[in-house]
Amino acid sequence: MFDSAAPIGIFDSGIGGMTVASAVTRLLPHEDTIYFGDTAHLPYGDKSTAAIQSYAIKICNLFIQKECKLILIACNSASAAAFDLVKAYVGSKAKVMNVIDPVVDYVKEQYPGKTVGLIGTKQTVLSEVYNRKVSELNKNIQLRSLATPLLAPMIEEGFFDNNISEKIIEAYLSDPTLAGIEALILGCTHYPLIKQQIAEYYQQPVAILDSSEIVARSLKAWLEQHYLLNSKGEGKRHFYVSDYTKSFEESTRTFFGQHLKLEH
Ligand code: SIN
Repeated sequence: MFDSAAPIGIFDSGIGGMTVASAVTRLLPHEDTIYFGDTAHLPYGDKSTAAIQSYAIKICNLFIQKECKLILIACNSASAAAFDLVKAYVGSKAKVMNVIDPVVDYVKEQYPGKTVGLIGTKQTVLSEVYNRKVSELNKNIQLRSLATPLLAPMIEEGFFDNNISEKIIEAYLSDPTLAGIEALILGCTHYPLIKQQIAEYYQQPVAILDSSEIVARSLKAWLEQHYLLNSKGEGKRHFYVSDYTKSFEESTRTFFGQHLKLEH
């Protein structure tokens, strides 16, 4: 079937997927990874489903060419818009995972009968993919979703941990849609970068559910179950971008602690 020494392909519109990629490389230090930041097309959250699907297929062609054993769609907008299509397109050439299913499974296990909030891009929230998946199995979970379209571009521009991001976060989280929630799903892989500011907003305890660790654990479990873990040597990291951005280059250093050569 697949080669355990083959790389894992991970993609997002920009830097957000690095929150997931870094959780994957921390948990699986021997795995080779290829990260693709589709910076020419960010943010995905405001794009049409058809546009996101065509970007995703193009990126997957690169991963197929590189003989990846697993492709991780490290972006909620692309997971919502393109997962089924990508899975059908890639077929038996690689396993395809998204960032939504592992989080939905976690929520169903941990929050039955509770009220849970979700923030994400317009694409993710309007697709209602979380609502559909959460309501399967009927665990009586009330999901309250709010589109927060300014957040991903704000983070991509480096606005986090400052007064501007604080005001924007406050404006969104004070929306009545999110009143009374017990947990909040960060339904965009960019949002772990503002997790601290989100946590600080809440006076009463609200669990902030960051998908990166949950997704990395689920990816590891799948590799283990299929005897595809790479246990030899130090994993190599490759980074591709569809357009050079300073923010992307700086983020590779912040997340992976080294100066990395970006390939186009
Ligand atoms: C975006 O590109 O708009 C955000 C990515 C995501 O939805 O995780």
